[in-house]
Amino acid sequence: AYDVLLAEAHGRPFAAIVGWPVDHSRSPALHGFWLKQHRIDGHYGRLPVEPTRSALEALVAFLRRTPNARGCNLTLPHKVEIMPLLDRIDPEAARIGAVNTVIKHADGMLEGRNSDAFGFIAALKEGAPDWRASAGPVVVLGAGGAARAIVASLVEAGVPELRLVNRTQQAAIELGLAFTPRDGRRIAIERWDERAASLEGATLLVNTTSLGMKGQPPLDLDLRHLPASAAVDDIVYVPLETPLLAAARARGNHCIDGLGMLLHQGRMGFEAWFGTHVAVSAAQRHAVAADL
Ligand code: ATR
Repeated sequence: AYDVLLAEAHGRPFAAIVGWPVDHSRSPALHGFWLKQHRIDGHYGRLPVEPTRSALEALVAFLRRTPNARGCNLTLPHKVEIMPLLDRIDPEAARIGAVNTVIKHADGMLEGRNSDAFGFIAALKEGAPDWRASAGPVVVLGAGGAARAIVASLVEAGVPELRLVNRTQQAAIELGLAFTPRDGRRIAIERWDERAASLEGATLLVNTTSLGMKGQPPLDLDLRHLPASAAVDDIVYVPLETPLLAAARARGNHCIDGLGMLLHQGRMGFEAWFGTHVAVSAAQRHAVAADL
């Protein structure tokens, strides 16, 4: 796999999505769009890396010894296990407890960052420009890796009250404990059975669970208590229009699909690896959505 990637890069600066599996990742499409758009002589590929310590050590050694390797993105299941192998973890990634972007600096230092919180907030602002963090309670469904980054970003954005709802309540309790701000703002833990009632008075509902994703059951949620003025953000992007978003749209709620977060989280790595500022555009959305 390393030889294939090196051959594709052909001496040019490159990065890659690293995971197990990586065949279905959309990252090459979104970075490929920017490389072409800005006529950058670089490459973004795929690198399957087994979920073992020795395979991750080999990856890190490869990044260090290959002069034109600029870094990588990481997907499941490597986001946590890579951390002790890097030279530096930026404070936000440390707080979230996961790294999805590795940047090799000019002096060779490997830095781990997490761009999911940034990507989530950027996509939310783009998708729902009228939503205000300070306006009221936000409901987050799920307590996995994606939820950690999203909860961190919402606390940081100034949301006055968060309500966490997860099938396994203990995971929501732990997430709440990890991110409760010291300024008196609340993180409430609601029961999964009572998820419909938790929507009362919310300004934003975020689905971070895998429910609604292709091949998964839909999210079973009665939206009756959700104010019509609330925005609904589903981070699932296959399909773009999940059953949750379709139901929310039918009631008149403002909807944000998961593609924006995917595109915006990519900016952090791209800008560092290839030294060019990039923006998310409708053309890129179409190009990436076309082969979802
Ligand atoms: P990610 O990194 O994408 O967040 P994850 O860490 O595996 O993935 O988290 C998956 C989330 O989806 C969890 O909150 C999980 O709930 P549990 O903590 O109870 O496992 C949630 N989830 C997955 N399948 C679910 C289902 N059938 N019903 C309810 N929640 C589900």
